[in-house]
Amino acid sequence: MKDVWIVAIPFVFVLVLAAMSDWDHPPIDSTQKGFRGTGMVQVDNPRTEADLAERNQVWESYGRVEPGGPPAGEVYENVQVLGALSQDQFDHLMLSITTWVSPEEGCAYCHNEENLAADDVYTKIVSRRMIQMTQTINSEWDTHVGGAGVNCFTCHRGQHVPEYVWVEEDHQKETTGGFSARRNNQNLGVEVTGYSSLPYDALMRYLTKDDVEIRVAALAALPTTEGGESIQKTESTYSLMVHMSEGLGVNCTYCHNSRAFGDWEQSTPQRMTAWHGIEMVQNLNEEYLIPLQSALPENRLGPEGDAPKAMCTTCHQGIPKPMYGANALEDHPELGAPVQ
Ligand code: HEC
Ligand code: HEC
Ligand code: HEC
Ligand code: HEC
Repeated sequence: MKDVWIVAIPFVFVLVLAAMSDWDHPPIDSTQKGFRGTGMVQVDNPRTEADLAERNQVWESYGRVEPGGPPAGEVYENVQVLGALSQDQFDHLMLSITTWVSPEEGCAYCHNEENLAADDVYTKIVSRRMIQMTQTINSEWDTHVGGAGVNCFTCHRGQHVPEYVWVEEDHQKETTGGFSARRNNQNLGVEVTGYSSLPYDALMRYLTKDDVEIRVAALAALPTTEGGESIQKTESTYSLMVHMSEGLGVNCTYCHNSRAFGDWEQSTPQRMTAWHGIEMVQNLNEEYLIPLQSALPENRLGPEGDAPKAMCTTCHQGIPKPMYGANALEDHPELGAPVQ
């Protein structure tokens, strides 16, 4: 009997250590976000904060170019979107987008260097659409981004394809074998659900179409025969919420009073901003990113052949205001709205 303990004690000790390795140790900061006594606090860890600050440094600024001088549309041959800018402003934007999207390859990443007017490099076609998308975000979604605004760097951070994008996954086809041969889109430890057992198709469900309801809480105390929501829809809603919390690096109580998740009156103003954010992401995916599929080479598409899409993390990257709220349009007001 004694021998069992000799083995068991170190074994349990190692297990406990392994479990603790993921714990946050003090000091931990907390900030009150809602009414007193409702537990609506935001918990932050100063060590993680330092790491986030390091990863969310702003772009390099080349200052601002004032309008004036000949319009780019007259100087150059094939300017379809930015023709009304002055040549100086246009060149200045070309320089900035190079540092935002392709700092290593430079102009050649989007251009045939023999002929800058040619549209033969696919990245140039995509960029033209990206410019329009950025202008739409800033002009039509100020309910969400108003204040800071966004530029290419908000998503790209010096990379060709933003780090945080998503495509349709083909996990569905992987079977688990035995009785539960189909996963039913869940029970797979993937990042998007915060490694929970929740469905991983929530982004497909809620971030591509704008006619879906994200409302699952019962409005009456007892179960009714009408209007109830399925367990799957409820789980998908929670999965989306996990994504939103992780994407912004916040707790559920940043937006909700957890005694009544559905009640807007008890929610914080940030929940309203988030609501517009959901609508915005649906619109960006539907109008811009999904249709770009036909312009992209195969190696950029997902296993199911769809184009990479945006989600909360694409811009937020772990913090409540992307780039800590830095003004993204200060040097480039032309990205604020379509230029006439
Ligand atoms: C990320 C993609 C991208 C990069 C990098 C880029 N460009 Fe462009 N460039 C474009 C797009 C898109 C257009 C077309 C804009 C339009 O239609 O309004 C364009 C058009 C131009 C034109 C107009 C050509 C003509 O005659 O029609 C010039 C000149 C130009 N770029 C110069 C540059 C220079 C110089 C660099 C490097 C400092 C550069 N570009 C880097 C995407 C890019
Ligand atoms: C809301 C986030 C977002 C913003 C803002 C944004 N992009 Fe993108 N960009 C994406 C996503 C998502 C992809 C991947 C899907 C695709 O290629 O269509 C992408 C892909 C691209 C690609 C293709 C890269 C490759 O190698 O295949 C280029 C080029 C590009 N963006 C340029 C730009 C430029 C220039 C701007 C600013 C005018 C910009 N993007 C602003 C999200 C964004
Ligand atoms: C950034 C803000 C934000 C965060 C963080 C957040 N939510 Fe939400 N939540 C919303 C918004 C906005 C809606 C409403 C969506 C709609 O109505 O289209 C919502 C809806 C819900 C609903 C459905 C309410 C109803 O009316 O049926 C539940 C349940 C919910 N959230 C739970 C959670 C949980 C659990 C977490 C933490 C894991 C969380 N939320 C984190 C913003 C947030
Ligand atoms: C195109 C980039 C982009 C995407 C995608 C995006 N956001 Fe935002 N979001 C922003 C910007 C920029 C701000 C800051 C606006 C400001 O300065 O007030 C912001 C602010 C917010 C805020 C307010 C934070 C605060 O403390 O006041 C919330 C909440 C939020 N976003 C939630 C979301 C959610 C949820 C999603 C995904 C459904 C999302 N966002 C997707 C760009 C984005």
